[in-house]
Amino acid sequence: MRIHTYEKLWLAGSFVLIVGFIVTITYGSVGLGITMIDDEADGVSPDEIPSDERFSDPRVEQVGEDEYEVYVVAMTFIFQPDPIEVPANSEVTFYVTSRDVIHGFEVAGTNINSMAIPGQVAELTVEFDEPGTYGIVCNEYCGPQHHTMEGSLVVTP
Ligand code: CUA
Repeated sequence: MRIHTYEKLWLAGSFVLIVGFIVTITYGSVGLGITMIDDEADGVSPDEIPSDERFSDPRVEQVGEDEYEVYVVAMTFIFQPDPIEVPANSEVTFYVTSRDVIHGFEVAGTNINSMAIPGQVAELTVEFDEPGTYGIVCNEYCGPQHHTMEGSLVVTP
């Protein structure tokens, strides 16, 4: 059976849509000037954290003109550092691990959402265009004070 030109166009259109969806999912933004790429960095066991150069001192580190790295340690029932402060118009890579049990690392109102797993390091790169304050919550049940486990992220002007 011969494929009519119209059908070819239709097929091509569908293909473009599918690719578009994949791109949207991979580089999805939530309208807050935030884009993210999820990845995994080298792991670190909870025992190694006190002597690990990345995580022994949880912090925000400037690594380029507009580039920052944030080393986040989750533990029952806090996040370190807290608050996390980064300037607007910056690209920020979060490295997130846990010192004890599985926690969540969700920046409320954004699509920054990762598990914090002992032994593993989650890597998330995000661009912040606008100043603002966000709550950070743990969305994995981690013990009796799970519901109180929260932090904050401040994007300064
Ligand atoms: Cu930590 Cu729930």
